[in-house]
Amino acid sequence: MSVTFSQKLARIPGYQAGVPTGKAPEAIAAGGIAQLASNESPFSPHPKVIETIQASAAAMNRYPDPAATLLRDRIAERYEVEPGQVTVGNGSCEILLAASEALCEPGAEIVYAWPSFSMYPYLAALSGAREIRVPLAEREALDLDAMAAEVTAATQIVVVCNPNNPTGTHLSAAEVAAFCEGLPDHVTIALDEAYIEFQTNDDPDATIDLIRDFPNLVILRTFSKVYGLAGLRVGFAIGSAKFRAAVDAVRQPFSVNAIAQAAAAEAILHSDDVARRVEGTIAERLRVEEALHEMGLKTAETQANFSWVDLNGAEEGDVVSGLAEQAIAVRAGAPLGDSGHIRVTYGTPEENGRFLAALEQLLD
Ligand SMILES: Cc1ncc(COP(=O)(O)O)c(C=O)c1O
Repeated sequence: MSVTFSQKLARIPGYQAGVPTGKAPEAIAAGGIAQLASNESPFSPHPKVIETIQASAAAMNRYPDPAATLLRDRIAERYEVEPGQVTVGNGSCEILLAASEALCEPGAEIVYAWPSFSMYPYLAALSGAREIRVPLAEREALDLDAMAAEVTAATQIVVVCNPNNPTGTHLSAAEVAAFCEGLPDHVTIALDEAYIEFQTNDDPDATIDLIRDFPNLVILRTFSKVYGLAGLRVGFAIGSAKFRAAVDAVRQPFSVNAIAQAAAAEAILHSDDVARRVEGTIAERLRVEEALHEMGLKTAETQANFSWVDLNGAEEGDVVSGLAEQAIAVRAGAPLGDSGHIRVTYGTPEENGRFLAALEQLLD
């Protein structure tokens, strides 16, 4: 074939899906598979959100609002910022990818910790920037001092994942503030808080106040986790109006579809439901972590909706496939940056019980 493709394809790491390939969510549920591989919520969306989704279906002959006005207004109201500071995207991943394109020329530098979210390597691969990966510190937490030490005149983006995926470790808002203080203002700090609602160290909104002090800070959040809307793909960023304009300039105008906009705008009104989901997740976190420790396994100190488990020398592939044979999907550590581990998302109490029993049996 004489067609040639862009050289950047060779740099793109490729995404390994957490679910058994080719299976739709309904088939996974019907097949009794415990889907503990993608850090989703095990709970369906709020009934009012489902009603909104159904009601908006009748208007699908129209394009969505390209400015996502209602959703951005509701996010702004909820976080007490101006609507102009809010960017919405087809998942927060889209905003991150667009940011790398909008901020980086080839040769620019992007700094992030590793192991961290598997999407970050795409930022450099797509934009032609150079990536600098900074190893995690003790206790598998981000090493903010080491990250700051990598910043140069060429650094365009520093990504801070807090709590960190896949380790779940969390740094306080005060530590994040001190980090922001120490960085030069030509650097965009992308603070990825996809799991922030699940941590109990700080008020989950403590970092939002930092936006006022640091115009180069962008906080990324998502409706995919605590809101239970992963299938709709909606994320948002709070930062400067300039950041929003830059991201909007490099992507298609209708990136968040109309059903997703309507559903997210409804979901954000139900803070009681968010609190309930957080409570349920924390209860399961305590239970799963305790059971793992009773098995003699070490885990990172998680503040998220998943555990990062050191398999204590057991073969990672055997454990993942042994669990899969019992219809339990978890993530292998190697593709996430550290072999000898698994990452397990908390599912329903019943799914977590199945996972713990199966793991104990496999390790025996
Ligand atoms: C750290 C982190 N950021 C962002 C995302 C993706 O969010 P979204 O579904 O909004 O693209 C994930 C999803 O797993 C994540 O782990």
